[in-house]
Amino acid sequence: MILQSTVIVWENASGFTRMQDTIKEAQQRFADMLIAFNASDVDKRQTYQRYLSFQYHLTRGVQQYFMRIAASDKLARKRKLRKFFYDFANEEELHYLVAGSDLAALKMKVLPQPFEVALWHSYFDRVTDERPFLRVGAAIVLENISDGVARPHVKQALSSDFLDRGNTKFLVLHQHETLPHGDQLIEAITQADLSDADIDDLCLGAQQGMVMYLRMAQWALSPDPADNLGANVYAPARAVDEAEIDRFTMRDLAAVEDS
Ligand SMILES: [Fe+2]
Repeated sequence: MILQSTVIVWENASGFTRMQDTIKEAQQRFADMLIAFNASDVDKRQTYQRYLSFQYHLTRGVQQYFMRIAASDKLARKRKLRKFFYDFANEEELHYLVAGSDLAALKMKVLPQPFEVALWHSYFDRVTDERPFLRVGAAIVLENISDGVARPHVKQALSSDFLDRGNTKFLVLHQHETLPHGDQLIEAITQADLSDADIDDLCLGAQQGMVMYLRMAQWALSPDPADNLGANVYAPARAVDEAEIDRFTMRDLAAVEDS
């Protein structure tokens, strides 16, 4: 039902056809990548460690982007949208610890930050204050890339024997049914009466988000440097706090919402 209602909201909004095209392109490219991955004999535990590691570094501090979007004077007369991003920031803030905790359940460490993730941060850190809708466009692609034609291939990629309830919390949390962020973002944006310039930024940010996310996904799914130039190329990042990961439980997410 949620998916259907989103499609209606999206199609009724003028100026968003390009955005929809980018989401579909991202889903198709992600599906193609996963089809190759599912057919390969690459070590699925290793790639899962790489996936959760890049997600840890990508999503740590994510609340700062969304607080900065909320703080933009472009939202001075869009207070409903401002509140949406403030709430979004709170909801996402601790998710990097879920990724770390899933790795800990597998007795695996968070790997160093991939260079691709550092590039994402250095770019979006620079543009978010001045052009917040670039970052919003990227978020819309990230929140929707696993749906559509990609969906069955994502499910197949997650069918390995070693995966269970205790080590897939990050993935389960981000499934559409659990947390329909993709739909919520689209709904919030399409109701916000954005200017043409802001919609242009949204569409450009979506394309940039697609490019960078697919490179990060490639980093995770293709660990052999013979196939993947950046497979072993890392960048400095805040030190991983193992004690913080060990202390974390899923109850912390609800406890924060109530405090
Ligand atoms: Fe999240």
